[in-house]
Amino acid sequence: MFQFPRIIQGGMGVGVSNWRLAQAVSRLGQLGVVSGTAIDQVLVRRLADGDKGGHMRRGLDAFPFPDMAKRIWNEYFVPGGKPEGKPYPNVPMHQRRDSRKLIELLMVSNFVEVFLAREGHINRIGVNFLEKVQLPHLASIYGAMLAGVGYVLMGAGIPLHIPGVIDNFAEHKPGEYKLAVAGATPEQDTMMRFDPRDYVEGPLPKLERPRFLAIVSSNTLATTMLRRATGRVDGLVIESPTAGGHNAPPRGKLQLDAMGQPIYGHRDKVDLEELRKLGVPFWLAGGYGSAAKLREALDEGAAGVQVGTAFAFSEESGLRPDLKRRLVAQAAKGEGQVFTDPLASPTGFPFKVAQLAGTYSDEGVAAARTRVCDLGYLREAYAAEDGKIGYRCTAEPAAAYVAKGGRIEDTIGRKCLCNALLANIGHPQTRQDKTAEPPLVTVGDDLNKVAQFLEDGRESYSAADVVERLLGEVGVSQGELVSLSAASRA
Ligand SMILES: Cc1cc2nc3c(=O)[nH]c(=O)nc-3n(C[C@H](O)[C@H](O)[C@H](O)COP(=O)(O)O)c2cc1C
Repeated sequence: MFQFPRIIQGGMGVGVSNWRLAQAVSRLGQLGVVSGTAIDQVLVRRLADGDKGGHMRRGLDAFPFPDMAKRIWNEYFVPGGKPEGKPYPNVPMHQRRDSRKLIELLMVSNFVEVFLAREGHINRIGVNFLEKVQLPHLASIYGAMLAGVGYVLMGAGIPLHIPGVIDNFAEHKPGEYKLAVAGATPEQDTMMRFDPRDYVEGPLPKLERPRFLAIVSSNTLATTMLRRATGRVDGLVIESPTAGGHNAPPRGKLQLDAMGQPIYGHRDKVDLEELRKLGVPFWLAGGYGSAAKLREALDEGAAGVQVGTAFAFSEESGLRPDLKRRLVAQAAKGEGQVFTDPLASPTGFPFKVAQLAGTYSDEGVAAARTRVCDLGYLREAYAAEDGKIGYRCTAEPAAAYVAKGGRIEDTIGRKCLCNALLANIGHPQTRQDKTAEPPLVTVGDDLNKVAQFLEDGRESYSAADVVERLLGEVGVSQGELVSLSAASRA
């Protein structure tokens, strides 16, 4: 019999759901989830900022292969932090075959984030990845597993092959993952491979197979995951298009409302009756950050809810304090505005953006930014003419994108989410002209509802305030977990 949380604090990249937030939620008996997306960059930048509080050092010291951790410390740690205005180090962008150094960085950074989130309590921690950000997958998952991650959650794509990879890694066996390469012929080798034994530097620690939850937005995807996944799928998170972050595009031909946002219709609604028949635990996400919505989800047979926005603005999250403060103040007045941008994300998926003056949501700020692609997580792999695999991003300089066979029209309106999301958490890259990359905050449609967590006169709230409010009114004590046997699920 499995025990599941009622509340999953959703993974929020880059670095919004950091180890601190996930630890706070898991300590309360619910599931805290760290984001593994671009966590290698996050570690590099925390070290370049002097590792305030010494937390990275503590995580590195716990890594099972000390020489590997030391190499990373020696390379990136800057005592006292880099001078203000000096750029962060450039780390090479990922490729199908990364250098050993980059693979080590992925393993170690994922380890550190999960290790710190697990520190000081015995509850489980999850790690979230986006299927579309494929290049770092294998080493990242293994690194998180070395730290004893309890759940792997993945959405933004169809992660059919991840469960099998996790099964293999639990026994330190090699894992493979097919890279999606536009224009590749069936004969072309597009497989990514990772063999833990090529990297371990000491005795193999015993690993537990984490549970795998797929984040999906339709009945078809839910069924496909359960039927075709290469290993066990332990549950499903059903995310509606009101959720923060990326949203699944609407079914059928894209239609926009008067403001230019995608229109979702009845075909985009998940049929819960059908879902229940699948017989696996599920959590509902997208606007479920209140006691009433948790109650509704439980009444629908869900194991619970996955909540993002409410936690993104809690004191523990990685979001820059000034951005948090301004958006919470807007929410308190009911004035927060969220735009579902069909173009901003290089992935082509709609992306929710909080409208906030002075950030990248501002047309003026967007127009003033010079296009540059130096992080590259959202690049698409494509079959280049020389038979090799190339990488391109719709948000990179348009001429470069077109030179790689991309269409100029696909570059319009795109924003560099990689740089913006690192700016959101206080690690903006500084450019040659001394300007800093602008932030772009993503948030769910329910932004204004975070006001419910503000006690009289207070301007901020904690993750515990969210958990207590959601559970308190549903009559569940904090530490209580839901037990679901196969029989009770049917
Ligand atoms: C700031 C932010 C970043 C997010 N980033 C991710 C992500 O990296 N991966 C992911 O699967 N979901 C991401 N999400 C979605 C959340 O995990 C969660 O499913 C969603 O926020 C639930 O809806 P809600 O925002 O209405 O609570 C993000 C949400 C927010 C608010």
